[in-house]
This record gives sequence, structure tokens and C-alpha cells, in this order.
Amino acid sequence: MDRIIIFDTTLRDGEQSPGVSLNVEEKLQIGRQLEKLGVDVIEAGFPVASPGDFEGVRRLAREIRGVEIAALARAREKDINIAWEAIKEGENPRIHTFIATSDIHLRYKLKKTRDQVLDMACAAVRYASRYTGNVEFSAEDASRSDLDFVCKVFEGVIDAGATTVNFPDTVGYAIPWDFGRMIRYIEDHVPNIHKAVLSVHCHNDLGLATANAIEAIKQGARQVECTVNGIGERAGNSALEEVVMAIHTRQDLLPYQTGISTRYIVSTSRMISLLTGMAVQANKAIVGGNAFAHESGIHQDGLLKERSTYEIIDPKDIGLSQGLLVLGKHSGRHALKAKLEDLGYRLSDEEIDRVFVSFKAIADKKREVYPEDLEALVAEQVLRIPDRYRLVYLHVAGGSGIRPTATVGVEIDGEEAHEVSMGAGPIDAAFKAVAKLVKTHSRLLRFAVNSITGGTDALGEVTVRLEEDGHVVTGQGADPDIITASVKAYLNALNRLYYIESVGR
Ligand code: KIV
Ligand code: ZN
Repeated sequence: MDRIIIFDTTLRDGEQSPGVSLNVEEKLQIGRQLEKLGVDVIEAGFPVASPGDFEGVRRLAREIRGVEIAALARAREKDINIAWEAIKEGENPRIHTFIATSDIHLRYKLKKTRDQVLDMACAAVRYASRYTGNVEFSAEDASRSDLDFVCKVFEGVIDAGATTVNFPDTVGYAIPWDFGRMIRYIEDHVPNIHKAVLSVHCHNDLGLATANAIEAIKQGARQVECTVNGIGERAGNSALEEVVMAIHTRQDLLPYQTGISTRYIVSTSRMISLLTGMAVQANKAIVGGNAFAHESGIHQDGLLKERSTYEIIDPKDIGLSQGLLVLGKHSGRHALKAKLEDLGYRLSDEEIDRVFVSFKAIADKKREVYPEDLEALVAEQVLRIPDRYRLVYLHVAGGSGIRPTATVGVEIDGEEAHEVSMGAGPIDAAFKAVAKLVKTHSRLLRFAVNSITGGTDALGEVTVRLEEDGHVVTGQGADPDIITASVKAYLNALNRLYYIESVGR
């Protein structure tokens, strides 16, 4: 009764974040990391949405063990058939079907009556139960629905075979104590609720997603749906690391357990940020760059005397290296492999070779190579969609008093091509040369530079967001040279656009 099921929806709701589009290999890497982190359920995608989504879910179901793989389906037979086809090879696979229950959604979106929605919900669960005994039902927009109607729907779907019923705060409208009251109401007014796990799924539009989930646990919910770094639709979902560490840290008030190995929280957060291109804000709880940084002298003094004066979590508990040197230029291939495994990356020999070559190049330029640097190298060398465009060389001339000029060599489908361009600055010049080579008419929506570790020799990590024909993609590149990192990020985004346009997502 005190075990909280962690249902991770990073690969489904998280992937619905604007600009995020993961390929199958990236989803698999994330799936393996989530398995290592110890989540109970991975919602791997929405298979009916696209062939890419279907394939991602199918591969996860085939290759991940020890974790339930869930697939989302609207309350329609076609969606349920496709969801089942995608997950059927998984271990205890779960069909997650949903329909909205709020009058706003019924009236404007579904154009259905309450009775029709009740019938559709029960029929969908009954249909899904023909495939598996592991069926979850979500009442979309539950927190803005008539609670007695939600109770009626939950009672009906549990009778029809649902083993989990989920109460989402779809638009992030709830306030903790009121959300808690709703959960208690469900507990008290659904006569067969003891036959199912009561779950919550909170969005962060008012910045209350984690608080709402915690209050729901207090009132009887035993599954929390969440995402790593809190990514997801609009302002995102309850952050997995926040929910888990709140429970871990406040056992006095929250005497519950999860199956999470907290020491993998930081490496998982980094992996998600690198692969989705969604940077974590510096002041983000638990995993932000400043979450364990102490600026004021009084705080630093207290911390040196006794860590608990200003830290409620031991950074080691979440796997924070705190700038500890991991490898240097004399480290060998075995040390690199062991460190990467420690960080959650299981790579083939050929992949290790590729990372090793770039590790040596970095170690020659930087004296100290940190876990964060290694993660950036893995993202660049391994976790990439097959590249159509690859940077061969870059030469830029800039400075004061001259027009910045860039000469760029790019391999396109294995053929090398070159272009020269001038620009307002060296990055602008390089991007213009690349755009001519690739013949793109994409628009640059966002350009951000981040230093991965401290020091002037740090790897620079660049994120770009592009839009073309309604598709938005994010690309990343890392290099000690910021202009090279920028061009790599630009090419990565262009590769993603090409992938979306050719594969369908
Ligand atoms: O926010 C929501 O309501 C959802 C459901 C599909 C669970 O994501
Ligand atoms: Zn959601």
C-alpha cells in the first residue's frame, strides 16, 4: 500500500513538447536508461500517431525487460488494435486508453453526450481487455469534470476490466488541496475502486504539477505519471525527479517507497536534455545547474562546517559528480567504457571506438574530462539519427575591421560539397554557407549557447531550433570551438528535418 508506482511518460507526453522529435535509436537509449533508473512503467508512445511512433513503441516492447511498456490509444478500436500490435511482445504490456469527461471537451471537442462517452469508455476498456489484463483508463480533463460523472465512468471501466484508473489534470488547472479533495472523493465514491490502482497525471501550467501529485498520493493515489525534467505538453508534467526526491527526502511526512535508484537521476536528466534538445533551466529543482551551487559567503561557510546546514539532499544520492575528474588524456578505452556504463550508456565496441577517438581529441585540448563532456560526446557520436549531412571542415575569418567569411565543407549523401559565404558574424556566415549547400528554406527559431563545464576550455553546447513547412526540430552540437559547435547543431537540426520529411515523423 505504501509503494508508489512511477509511470514515466517522457517518451509520450514528454515527446509532445514543441520541437522534440526522437528517433527510434534515441528512444531505445532512453528506454534502457529508464529501466536502469527503476521506473515501473514506460509509456513508450502513441502508436497510431505515426509509423515512427509505432516502430519506437514496438522496439521498446521487444528490447526492454523488467519494466511494463504502455502504449496510448484513444477510446477507438483502431487505436487499440494498433497499440496492441506495437506492445504485444513486451513484458506485461499495458494498453492505456482515454477519453475526455469534462463538459467543455464533450461539448466542443467530442460533440457527445455523457452517456455516449460512458459507453465509449467502457467499450474501449472491454475491447482492450480482450488483448491483455493490464488496461489503464484515463478520464482526460478529469479535474474540470463533474466528479460524480468521473466516478460513474471509473466504476464502469473498472467493471469492464480496467486495472488502473487515471485522473489527469490535463490543463494544469488544479490547486493542491482541491486536487487532493477530488482524489479523496474518487476513493470514497467509486464502489469498486479497490479493484484498481488510482493514478494521477498532472500538468504544470500553474507550476503546481509536482505539488498536486504529492497531495494526490497523500489522499490515496498510488501511481504518479511523470516525465524526466518535467518536459511535456505546454508547461510540462510533474517532474519525476521532484516527485521521487520529495518522497525520498520527506519520509517523515511521505512514508512511501518508489523503485527508483536515485543515483541515476542526474545522468538520466542529462540524457533527456541532450537527446530532446530541451535545456534544463539553471534553477530547476534537483537537476538544475544551480540546484547545489552556494553563492553567498554565509551559506558557503555553513556548508563547509556541516553540509546539512544548507543542503537537504546529499548530491551523491542523485549521482551528481560535483565536478569530480573522471578521465584524463592517459585514460584508456576500458576506463572510458566502464565510465560510460556507469553513466547509463551501453554501447557496442564500434560505438565505443567512435567515442574514444573524440574523447582523445577532447582530452588533448582539455586537461579534465567530466561526465557531462562524455555525455555530450555520446550524444554526438552515437545517439544521432543517421546523418545525411555531415560537417567535413569549417574555416572562418573574423575579427574587427573585416567582413566575417566562412568556408564550409559538408558531406551530403557521401559526396563532399563546399561553399563560401559572408555574414553579420562568423556564425551567421557559416550558417548561410550551410543553408546554400543544403538548399534549406528553414527558419531559425532559437539559438542558445551553453558551457557544459566551467573554464575557458569547456565544451560549448549549442542548441538550435528550426522550422520548415510546419515541422519544428531541435538540433544540438558540442565542441570546444563555439562556431564549430553551432554548425554541428545546425546540421543536426537539418538532419532531423530531413528524417521527419522522409520517414514521416
Ligand atoms: O494530459 C492528459 O490528459 C493526458 C492523457 C492522455 C493521460 O496526457
Ligand atoms: Zn498529459
